[in-house]
Order: sequence, then C-alpha cells, then structure tokens
Amino acid sequence: MIFLTRRATFSASHYYWNDAWSAERNAQAFGRCANRNSHGHNYTLEVTVAGEPDPVTGFVVDLKWLKDVIEREVLSAYDHRHLNLEAPEFAAGKLLPTTENIAIAAWNRLQPAVTDAGGARLSRIRVYETSDIFAEYRGERGEL
Ligand code: NI
Repeated sequence: MIFLTRRATFSASHYYWNDAWSAERNAQAFGRCANRNSHGHNYTLEVTVAGEPDPVTGFVVDLKWLKDVIEREVLSAYDHRHLNLEAPEFAAGKLLPTTENIAIAAWNRLQPAVTDAGGARLSRIRVYETSDIFAEYRGERGEL
C-alpha cells in the first residue's frame, strides 16, 4: 500500500454566521469572522489516495487525472468564490465554511470520483487555512 498526495491551492472568502443567533452571540462566538462582508484565505488542499502501484506504470493513480478531478470537483466550486454565497453546502442554514467543514465537503466531492479509479481509494484530505492551521479528514465518523 502506498499513499500518494497531490496538493492544490485556492482562494476563497467566507464568514461565520448562525442565523438562529443574535448578532451579539455571533460576534461572541466568531469574533471578526462574523463580519458579513467576509474575508479571504489562500487555502491549500492536500488530497491523498491509497493503493498498490500498477505493476506496469508504477502509478497508484495518474497524477494528471487526479489534478483534473480536483479541479473539476473542488476548485471549480471553491476557487475565487464566496463560499457562503456560491457553494451550496455552505449556504445559510447549512454548514459553516470552517476549515474543518471544507475538509469534509472536499472529501464528499472527491470521494465518488476517486472511488471510480481502478484500485485506488481516497485516503485523506487536508485543508490548510494558513501555514499554521489545517484540518484533516479521513472519511470516518467514529467515536472520539
Ligand atoms: Ni476565515
């Protein structure tokens, strides 16, 4: 078993806001991130697939294919977008576009496409909001 990672970057804006809460409570929970005019990040996305290298090509997956899948499934939806306003999973009343939720949403977008790839499976997603902060998701719901 080998783990192969492809990195991509995207820029997006977001804010954190819960419609069920008062402005005060939103400000208390989310601080500056509650500003409805939004702010941006340059995100780094890492997509790791796992599998056995093909005996002939030595590839787990074709990296150009993986690049195209990431572009089609994630970057086209998130890059240079306002996540709250343009990505349906982060619309008002749905998930907040936190680093954690972006990692889960990217997994959900990529997983069906990667499952179709012969022999490889999606293993891990990392989303870096800054060089100091990232969230990692492996598709598990399990207990803490
Ligand atoms: Ni932010």
